[in-house]
Amino acid sequence: MTIGPLLKPHVRRVEAALEARLDHSSIEPRLQQAMRYALLNGGKRIRPCLVYLVNRLLGGVAEEADLPACAIEAVHSYSLVHDDLPAMDDDDLRRGKPTCHIAFDEATAVLAGDALQAIAFEWLAGGQSALAPATRLRAVATLARAAGDRGMVAGQAFDLANVGNPLDLEQLQQMHRHKTGALLTAAIELGALSAGITEGESYTALKRYGDAIGLAFQVQDDILDIEGDTETLGKPQGSDLAQNKPTFPALLGLEGAREKLRELHAEALHALEPFGNDAAALRALADYIVARDH
Ligand code: IPE
Ligand code: IPE
Ligand code: MG
Ligand code: MG
Ligand code: MG
Repeated sequence: MTIGPLLKPHVRRVEAALEARLDHSSIEPRLQQAMRYALLNGGKRIRPCLVYLVNRLLGGVAEEADLPACAIEAVHSYSLVHDDLPAMDDDDLRRGKPTCHIAFDEATAVLAGDALQAIAFEWLAGGQSALAPATRLRAVATLARAAGDRGMVAGQAFDLANVGNPLDLEQLQQMHRHKTGALLTAAIELGALSAGITEGESYTALKRYGDAIGLAFQVQDDILDIEGDTETLGKPQGSDLAQNKPTFPALLGLEGAREKLRELHAEALHALEPFGNDAAALRALADYIVARDH
């Protein structure tokens, strides 16, 4: 399944916005080449899509969502560069190309990741943002929390600390909610913030949707490690198995993991019911997340 027509315009929009914002003025051009390589190399752009879709559903304007969308994709791309390093998953293929540390070198990949994280917060907080100062501050805090030691980085540390350990379902869900769910939920929060919304029934329903697709996303990622193929995935199939990673199929078996995925998909769609047709694109995104082949 490829990303459909309801989502494609948002993918194009964030790619143009990213291209326009990355500059070439560093004293170290190789660092900026590595940042461009990591950021502009054909990711699916799911998190920016969420930012734009939630912004629109809640009555916002897309211009105010551009920098939050760019920022979350920069943090996500940095997380992938570091995830692939020899010290972590030691993978050599990402988005169909050599990983950043293979195309450049390890030190450059570490630094490009660092700089992508920093630039995300510059974009959120900086003078080009269309958001009011108080909203920017809240957006910075939201992304920082989701990215850090109570969010994605905690999940990554937990993942690495538990290689070869038999986790129970609760521990595995906690890990996935942190390493993957936190940034997907932050995308929803940033989309809402960019439309001036921080609470209310719609906000709560969207967060429920985010929690469900956040976990579903990583369950499908784990399933694809088993039944995908390297060329379509654009990253090495079998990497989790080879490294004895804690995954859903490892705990529940492939069929158990698929059942979990179906439950989470249903939960996500249920959370969108109050929005009716207005949520068609978010529904399509949930369908894509559970049926994607890469
Ligand atoms: C991969 O994320 C890492 C996980 C959180 C499972 P994506 O599947 O969104 O990666 P890209 O951005 O499309 O390459
Ligand atoms: C990584 O999870 C999630 C991140 C925070 C980057 P994985 O290690 O499963 O991601 P892939 O399979 O390498 O994309
Ligand atoms: Mg990993
Ligand atoms: Mg990995
Ligand atoms: Mg994976």
